[in-house]
Amino acid sequence: MPRRAPQIARTLPALRRSMEGLRARKATVALVPTMGALHDGHISLVRLAQRRCDKVVVSIFVNPTQFAPTEDFGAYPRTWKSDIAKLTEAGADLVWNPDAKVMYPDGFATRIVTEGPATADLEDRFRPHFFGGVATVVGKLFTQVRPDMAFFGEKDFQQLKVVTRMARDIDLGVKVVGATTLRERDGLAMSSRNVYLSADERATAPVLYRAMKETAKRLKAGDDVAAALAGGAATITAAGLALDYFEARNSETLAKVKSMKDGPLRLLVAAKLGKTRLIDNIAV
Ligand code: PAJ
Repeated sequence: MPRRAPQIARTLPALRRSMEGLRARKATVALVPTMGALHDGHISLVRLAQRRCDKVVVSIFVNPTQFAPTEDFGAYPRTWKSDIAKLTEAGADLVWNPDAKVMYPDGFATRIVTEGPATADLEDRFRPHFFGGVATVVGKLFTQVRPDMAFFGEKDFQQLKVVTRMARDIDLGVKVVGATTLRERDGLAMSSRNVYLSADERATAPVLYRAMKETAKRLKAGDDVAAALAGGAATITAAGLALDYFEARNSETLAKVKSMKDGPLRLLVAAKLGKTRLIDNIAV
């Protein structure tokens, strides 16, 4: 039987009405925040959310406040029809799709300021505006939807930490759940930005995952952390990428590490391939 399309809400009163319906009979509600351009990685979050909660709300909002003026807000892929087709197929219950004026009404003047994991000297070093924008919009999404749980990908590992911290710190009462990264067959982490890659770049991109795997293997074999990282970094730059960072961190605190003893370790990478900035990470 064909699935029913999810309800769609674009204003706060419409969202409230839909949420009242979803919450009938004490149903638990999950939120999966996205910026659209949905791929199987997003859908894996929806499926995990369905296993943990009765109803699943997916937000689609390309959040202007997390992009710097030099970044790709204007070019960010917008694929509404195919997003709704995927969410219908997955069986999502509601799509929250406010426009920028609903999210940021005229005179908007309040922001959530993030510290701790948001100042770990990883993404924040290259995108100083980013986590303030993410925390503000996610804080708003949590108060708008009031979900019991919210699902985020480990793909954006530092973001997952920032959002987890923020929800706890300001008592939003939302349990933040992390989900493993879905990859293409050749190891490239799925990302809405992969559509920017030319055919040649797409063929090169899996080097990030290969280099991380290679580095993790060396670390597990007892190699020195700095030497193993230097090897991985050399593999990535030899493939023609411009590295922003390739680091090993404590996977709980994101603190810098000197040896495996400072672990459990997480390898995190960000690099530019042509004009496209890619990020990824794995556990060691
Ligand atoms: P977006 O990039 O659309 O990602 C939405 C969610 O999908 C994030 O939690 C992200 O970590 C997760 N995700 C992305 N690629 C994934 C993959 N390959 N496997 C599993 N999960 C994956 O991240 C954002 O949007 C925004 O910053 C947002 C949190 C919505 C705030 O605007």
